[in-house]
Amino acid sequence: MQITLKNPLDMHLHLRDGAMLDAVAPFSAKSFVAAVIMPNLTPPIDSLESAKAYKQSIVDSIHSYAKAHKQPLESLAFEPLCALYITDSLTPKVLESCANSGFKLLKLYPKGATTNSDNGIAQVMDSKMRALFSVAQDQGMILCIHGESGGFVLEREMEFGVVLRELATSFPRLKIIVEHLSDHRTIPLLEEYDNLYATLTLHHITLDLNDVAGGMLCHHHFCKPVLKTPKDKQALLELALNAHKKVSFGSDSAPHSLESKQKGAAGIFSAPALLPQLAELFDKHNALHNLQAFVSDNAMRIYELACWVEAAKSWEKSPKLITLEKSPSKIPESIPCLDSSLRPLRAGEMIAWREV
Ligand code: DOR
Ligand code: ZN
Repeated sequence: MQITLKNPLDMHLHLRDGAMLDAVAPFSAKSFVAAVIMPNLTPPIDSLESAKAYKQSIVDSIHSYAKAHKQPLESLAFEPLCALYITDSLTPKVLESCANSGFKLLKLYPKGATTNSDNGIAQVMDSKMRALFSVAQDQGMILCIHGESGGFVLEREMEFGVVLRELATSFPRLKIIVEHLSDHRTIPLLEEYDNLYATLTLHHITLDLNDVAGGMLCHHHFCKPVLKTPKDKQALLELALNAHKKVSFGSDSAPHSLESKQKGAAGIFSAPALLPQLAELFDKHNALHNLQAFVSDNAMRIYELACWVEAAKSWEKSPKLITLEKSPSKIPESIPCLDSSLRPLRAGEMIAWREV
């Protein structure tokens, strides 16, 4: 059995920089036509100059890989959609210049919520932030949010709902994306507010807190927001399997070296073999017919990619077609990176599908 996906999109991806970028970017470039690239680098990507430079470094990294491995560039055609980190130095003027240059995505981290969020925002609804959101709304920008409070770890997303409600009602023309939805209690907000959307990761729809702390502690499954209850997992899985019109796929693949993981860094590196795992999951639940919408069509529509991403016009003419086949493949044990390595989600496991 085979299925061919047209223009897969990963709407939440950490590619890092330097050697780690070189090690991880080819996985995404092979399987996806574009991805939303997270800006939580050191220093953060919070200006037009740094966004342009970061985008170029991703393109250069993929080109170098193609050259070194004698692979045709078309097979690695990949558009990095770099998001801007909302820091204290991001002014309305900077926002306008970014939007005019085609950088339409904003990423809001509450201060201290996750990896490299020290430059995030302490008061999300203060007057300075409201002024920014107002400009973002007028410029047709999209606000991607790490939606967690600083409270008890299992209640953080639910508690952040107050902010989401206020944002959604105060800026009704601003599209707001609740990133890596993790709690079933957030789902009704998607139904309630027209301008509220979400991304779903593979790990939040397939794993729960037992996979982190139910047996021996598994730091490879530690991420933010933390994996929650089986009930949460099931509710999120259903959104994905039905390709609910308010959700799109965003892997939140977040590589950390083994040493950093051992020290407690949050993040799951899922980029190797994402599409085969999604095909396996959707097949198991007789939902393969919804995979195209979940990994591409919904995002094209929600983010209006055809309107503001120049390259999207050519994706339509010569789409990136990824064929997946129901035949076993093995997820790599580890990916070398400098003098360390990265451990992918389900490292070393056999799965039922593979990318042709
Ligand atoms: O688990 C996570 N890792 N969640 C985030 O929000 C950030 C990410 C990272 O950058 O490592
Ligand atoms: Zn992330």
